[in-house]
Amino acid sequence: MTIKVGDKIPSVTLHTMTKEGPKPISSDDIFKGKKVAVFGLPGAFTPTCSAKHLPGFLKKAAALKKKGVDEIVCVSVNDAFVMGAWAKDQKVGKKVFMVADGDANFTKAAGLELDLTGRGLGLRCQRFSMVVDKGVVKKLNIDPPGTFEKTSAESLLADL
Ligand code: BEZ
Repeated sequence: MTIKVGDKIPSVTLHTMTKEGPKPISSDDIFKGKKVAVFGLPGAFTPTCSAKHLPGFLKKAAALKKKGVDEIVCVSVNDAFVMGAWAKDQKVGKKVFMVADGDANFTKAAGLELDLTGRGLGLRCQRFSMVVDKGVVKKLNIDPPGTFEKTSAESLLADL
């Protein structure tokens, strides 16, 4: 079942790239006591994600933080090496915390799977955005596969 407004974010293990290599991080640690803007997408380095979705959040990072967001998190079903390389390529710096959901733990627990089997991508994550306050979903937007409208940084900013 797809996660909805009012639900608690699932407790799962994710990974992030660090100077020392990939490190596990729990979703509980990411969301604890914070207001977090989260967006998920079908894949690092894919066209819409690289040209629009992530760049939009980089552009609006300061505006989101001005509206009370403590952290901006990007989730994708990719490994931490790929997420780290994408972060460098997109000059993410500290604006967005890049989280690898390589085992799709978060994606599956949140019911946000996108099955791209047959297109060479396997199980991925739907394009979504959320505002999560202290671990509870306050806003949720999901774009139907192949579209990019409701989940932009601009839309989430308007929701706040
Ligand atoms: C997308 O950005 O929607 C997408 C990317 C890769 C494969 C399929 C869809």
